[in-house]
Amino acid sequence: MRVIVDNIIKQTLLTKLSYRTANVTVLGLGYVGLPLVVAFAEAGFVVTGIDPDKKKIEAIQKGESYIQDVPAEQLARLVKAGKVMATGDFTALKNADAVSICVPTPLRKTGDPDLSFILSVTDQLAMYMHPGMVVVLESTTYPGTTREILLPKLGVDNDLVAGETFFLAFSPERVDPGRHDWTTYNTPKVIGGITPACTEVASRWYAQALKTVVPVSSAETAEMTKLLENTFRMVNLGLVNEMALICDRLGIDVWEVIDAASTKPFGFMKFMPGPGIGGHCIPIDPLYLSWKLRALHYTARFIDLASEINTNMPRVVVEKIQDAFNDRGKSLKGSSILVLGAAYKPDINDLRESPALDVMGLLEKKGASVSYHDPFIPVIEHDGHCRESVPNLLEAIRAADCVVIVTNHSQYDYAAILENASLIFDSRNALGHIGRDHPNVVRL
Ligand SMILES: NC(=O)c1ccc[n+]([C@@H]2O[C@H](COP(=O)([O-])OP(=O)(O)OC[C@H]3O[C@@H](n4cnc5c(N)ncnc54)[C@H](O)[C@@H]3O)[C@@H](O)[C@H]2O)c1
Repeated sequence: MRVIVDNIIKQTLLTKLSYRTANVTVLGLGYVGLPLVVAFAEAGFVVTGIDPDKKKIEAIQKGESYIQDVPAEQLARLVKAGKVMATGDFTALKNADAVSICVPTPLRKTGDPDLSFILSVTDQLAMYMHPGMVVVLESTTYPGTTREILLPKLGVDNDLVAGETFFLAFSPERVDPGRHDWTTYNTPKVIGGITPACTEVASRWYAQALKTVVPVSSAETAEMTKLLENTFRMVNLGLVNEMALICDRLGIDVWEVIDAASTKPFGFMKFMPGPGIGGHCIPIDPLYLSWKLRALHYTARFIDLASEINTNMPRVVVEKIQDAFNDRGKSLKGSSILVLGAAYKPDINDLRESPALDVMGLLEKKGASVSYHDPFIPVIEHDGHCRESVPNLLEAIRAADCVVIVTNHSQYDYAAILENASLIFDSRNALGHIGRDHPNVVRL
C-alpha cells in the first residue's frame, strides 16, 4: 500500500513538473539564483524567489535587474506577467513544489568552508517540507554535503523518505558571468540525486527549463564534478602562473610561448597568467575539497600548491613594479599609481576575491598613493576603506607615475593608454604587440 502511495506522490509531482504547473521557489537571488529564476519563468513556471536581502527583493519587484547577465527588460516582463515574484518571507515555501537552493558558500577567515548559509537555509526550508517536494542544492560545496547535511534535516526530521515521499539532488551551477555564448539555459546541467528516483524527478524538472540535462549516479558525483571542473582551472592557472615566473627567470617572453603553444591543434589548452585569481569559484571551491580530504588524512597536493602560487601573484606583481621603479632610478614609495580594472575578470562588475584588492593594498603598504579606474565598478568598499573610480581616465593616466593594468576590460583604448602613460605595468598582456619591447612597458 505504501509503495502505491509513494508512487502516486512521485507521479503527481512528475506531472506537475512536465506541465510546468509546479510552484517553483529559488532560495538565494544572487549571480546564480536570479538567472535560474528567469530560466524557470521563461519555461512557463511561476517562480518565487526568496532572499533576506531587502534591496534585491525591492529591485526585482520593480523589475530592476542587479545582475549583469539578466536584462532588466526581460525581468520586468516576467514580473509584470506574474511569472516572477520575490519576497523575504520564507512562509512562501508553504506552497512550494520544487525548490532550488543558491546560497553562498564562502570561506572563513581561517580558509575553512563556511557552511553557515547552507545550514541556515536548510533549517528555514525544513519548517515547510511536505510530501511531494523536490529540492535541488546548487551551491558549490564538498562531496557529501547534500546527503550529510540536507537529507537529515529535510527528510528524516520531517518523516520524509528521499526517493519516495520527497526528492533531493545536487546540481552544480556552471554560470560564467559576462558570457553570452554559454548561458544558464544552454550550458549542460549535471544532476545527481540521493536515489535514482531523486535524479529522475530533479532531471525532469530542470529539463523543462534548460537545454541539456546530464544525470549522474549520485549527489556525490554531481558535487565532485563541480570541484573537478574548478580544480582543473585553478591548477592550470597555478601552472601557467608558475610558467610566467620561470620564463621571467630565463628571460623568455611567456606570452609569446603561450601563443606559440596554442597553435598545437590538440593536447594543449590555453590558460593565461595574471595578477592572481578571483571570483567566487576558482580560488575558493577547490579549498572545500582539500578541507574535506584533510579530515580523511589526505593532502590534496595539487590544490595546495596551485593555491599557494596563485595567492602569491599579487605580491609578484608589486615586486615587479618596485623593480621597474628601481630600474628607472625612482622609488615606489611616494609614487602615484593608477590601477586599471578592479573586477576579477574582464567586462564584468564582480569584485569578489579580485586580485586588484590585494595589489592595491600591497602597493599602499609600500608607500605608494593608489587610485583606480573601472568602468563597471564605480565604488569599492573593502577592509574599512572606500575608494571611488577616478572620474577622468585620461587625466589620471597622464598624472600617474605608473599605470598598472590589472583587469583587461575590452572597452579600454590601450593605444591611448600607451600614448599617455609614463610607465605601464601590464599584468595581462592587454597591450599585446604594441606593448612588446616598448620602453615604457613592463609586462608580467
Ligand atoms: N557566481 C558564480 O559565478 C557562481 C558560479 C557557479 C557556482 N556558484 C556557486 O553558487 C552559489 C551561490 O553563488 P552566488 O554567486 O549566486 O552568490 P551571491 O552572493 O551572489 O548570492 C547568494 C544570495 O543568497 C542570499 N542568501 C543568503 N542566505 C540566504 C538564506 N538563508 N535564504 C535565502 N537566500 C539567502 C544572499 O542574500 C544572496 O543574495 C555559491 O555556492 C557559489 O559558489 C557561483
